Amino acid sequence: MDGLRIRNQDETFAGCIIQQTYSALWHLEQIIMKNKFKTVIELGTGHGALCVFFSLHGQETFTYQWENDNREIRVKELHECLKIHFVLKDVLKECNVKEIMSVNRPLLLFCDNGNKEKEFELYTPELKKGDYIIVHDREIEFFPNSEKNLDIEKRNNLIRINDQEMINDGTLLTVYRKD
Ligand SMILES: C[S@@+](CC[C@H](N)C(=O)[O-])C[C@H]1O[C@@H](n2cnc3c(N)ncnc32)[C@H](O)[C@@H]1O
Repeated sequence: MDGLRIRNQDETFAGCIIQQTYSALWHLEQIIMKNKFKTVIELGTGHGALCVFFSLHGQETFTYQWENDNREIRVKELHECLKIHFVLKDVLKECNVKEIMSVNRPLLLFCDNGNKEKEFELYTPELKKGDYIIVHDREIEFFPNSEKNLDIEKRNNLIRINDQEMINDGTLLTVYRKD
């Protein structure tokens, strides 16, 4: 069981590499089931399995990737079949943020590209009440308890969800709801 809380490089979902622990998927399932998200946006596609997981729940799903498309042909076909919007765009360019965020709400925004600290800073002001923002790689690339991030959290009325459980279960996720 403890293996489900550890990140392995060869973890898969639907036969495709996913860069999440299985414990994170369990928590994401609970969050999605408790909320009626209309849209999910994933910033950072990787190999393309996490957006498959999201889209299977029925919300409109967008996944953004910068320049290189790392998806296998089989995964591209799966994305087309599930009507996932795969978009090649630099999500860290400030001029793209408003357009990326102009979607139906409530929104689940999953931050998982090359600079999570910057993503959190750029995208949080665009959230609306009831939206969730989830940031990956806690204490590796994202530090929720730094002075700067605590200030962003406070200024934007963000409430942390199941913070200790996320840590205990090795999810590497920090989950916030906008109030
Ligand atoms: C850690 S992987 C994503 C893993 C995926 N979310 C998963 O859970 O399986 C990070 C991805 O973000 C992409 N990326 C990095 N910087 C980016 C940027 N500025 N804009 C869009 N995508 C970016 C990388 O190319 C890589 O595919």
